[in-house]
Amino acid sequence: MLSGNILATKEEWEQTYWIDSTTEPIFQRKNFSESLVNNHNVLFPKQRIGSRVYVPCCGKTRDMIYLADMKHEVIGVEYAKTAIEEFHRDNSLTYTTSDVEGGAFVLYCTNEKNIKIYQGDVFSMTTEICGQFDGAFDRGGYNSTYPSRRNAYCSVVRSLLKTGGRILLETRQLGRPVACGPPFSMTMEDIANDFTHFDVSALKTYEDEHGVIYTSILRLKA
Ligand SMILES: C[S@@+](CC[C@H](N)C(=O)[O-])C[C@H]1O[C@@H](n2cnc3c(N)ncnc32)[C@H](O)[C@@H]1O
Repeated sequence: MLSGNILATKEEWEQTYWIDSTTEPIFQRKNFSESLVNNHNVLFPKQRIGSRVYVPCCGKTRDMIYLADMKHEVIGVEYAKTAIEEFHRDNSLTYTTSDVEGGAFVLYCTNEKNIKIYQGDVFSMTTEICGQFDGAFDRGGYNSTYPSRRNAYCSVVRSLLKTGGRILLETRQLGRPVACGPPFSMTMEDIANDFTHFDVSALKTYEDEHGVIYTSILRLKA
């Protein structure tokens, strides 16, 4: 992913990371994200169990397992059917599927845990389809969005949150041109400029070999 691919369509994402790849996608973590485990109580300061949590561009992240095991209702959205099927297979879970909104999404309902994943485009998600959320965990969704679509991305996430909702956001600053394709380099300033309806606070900043990683909490303004 960090080598640079122009990924714009559902088919390109699915093919590049979920079909062609002979290894796990580079963004795939074996363990739960530290940003989530360490800041679960910042995302849900009052209601530590029983919240509805949105995971946009979820891939097959095990963070959904963490959230479900913390007794939340987890709703993911993901382009790639392969990722959703692998998520279930890797975690020994079974599912049922149904068509939603005339085929705009396929809904995967996990039988053993409180997880639902909509296969489709995050930009097409509405409260009519999936309801509203107490919080969202976003690692790699906002960071994968082309600059020209970031305002739309932020509007959709905002529309899905209840009053007082929060987003726990993990992003990367890579210091490379937009032309390289996703992930796009994102600074704390970009986050504050794009998520205008939120109060943005940095929780942690550190560097790895690819760049600077920010964890931040975004609180929806009243
Ligand atoms: C960088 S990965 C992050 C995956 C996951 N959040 C994680 O932490 O492992 C981005 C994921 O978003 C998916 N994706 C990209 N654009 C999307 C869109 N518009 N709608 C739904 N999923 C999308 C890709 O297929 C990919 O699985």
